[in-house]
Amino acid sequence: MRFKDKVAIVTGAASGMGLLCAQRYAAEGAKVALVDVNADAVKAAAVAICEQGGVASHVVTDIRSFEAVEKTAALVLARFGRIDILANVAGGNPHRVCNCPGGFEQMTLEAMDWGIEVNFTGPIYFCRAVFPAMIEQKGGVIINLGSVDGMTGAAGAVVYGAAKSGMVGLTKSLALAGAPHGIRACCVSPGPVMTRAAMAKMKTPLGRAAEPEEVVNLTLYLSSQDAAMISGTNYLIDGARSCGGMA
Ligand SMILES: NC(=O)c1ccc[n+]([C@@H]2O[C@H](COP(=O)([O-])OP(=O)(O)OC[C@H]3O[C@@H](n4cnc5c(N)ncnc54)[C@H](O)[C@@H]3O)[C@@H](O)[C@H]2O)c1
Repeated sequence: MRFKDKVAIVTGAASGMGLLCAQRYAAEGAKVALVDVNADAVKAAAVAICEQGGVASHVVTDIRSFEAVEKTAALVLARFGRIDILANVAGGNPHRVCNCPGGFEQMTLEAMDWGIEVNFTGPIYFCRAVFPAMIEQKGGVIINLGSVDGMTGAAGAVVYGAAKSGMVGLTKSLALAGAPHGIRACCVSPGPVMTRAAMAKMKTPLGRAAEPEEVVNLTLYLSSQDAAMISGTNYLIDGARSCGGMA
């Protein structure tokens, strides 16, 4: 029960690693606010956590709107009284999500904007929205989901890679801005993860994609008191993919 009496906000909590993070925080004692733009799925996820004895609420939020994000943080404060953890998990490759095949030279404005706004701007908005509460509480933890593409670059994911590398810089600056207030920030940068079967074909030197649980285990460790001295750090969890040699 590492998160007993803690309040966690998880974005992208309707599916994949965000959903698993929310379930695991709740199973270890946190009160969890599940945030996602997918109304039906995020509601069902929160209800399922409550049915299993956890404490959870859902908020339907498009993280691209600062107004919506600020309202969400205020709702969570009103509902649970504090915000100890923010896990910025919502994100994705705009070529896939916006159904925009082809190279960078064919990328639509809609896909470029989605790629930056969901993978980078939205997380900044959420950090900004929770910072005052964390400062007042004299503590908090922010976990940002990056990607190996942000570290190595990826020809097929130019905008996504740019946004995800931004998460590393964001994390470092948040760590410095937050340190005097007891706020930590860490970035988790996975290689391919089996949240979709298609990820199995992406190679790593270890010969497989990660299981979502492996990434979430790291995320929960970094969120916990066991990681009290860790801040400003980016953790690759990519089966050595970033070491090269995968051509
Ligand atoms: N799966 C991988 O292989 C992989 C690899 C590296 C990094 N990542 C990163 O890890 C994170 C989670 O990945 P996943 O595969 O579990 O994702 P996923 O696609 O299963 O879930 C993403 C969630 O974000 C939500 N979302 C999208 N736009 C939103 C918006 N505007 N506002 C609020 N919510 C929104 C979606 O509804 C969805 O529930 C992402 O940031 C992703 O970029 C994933």
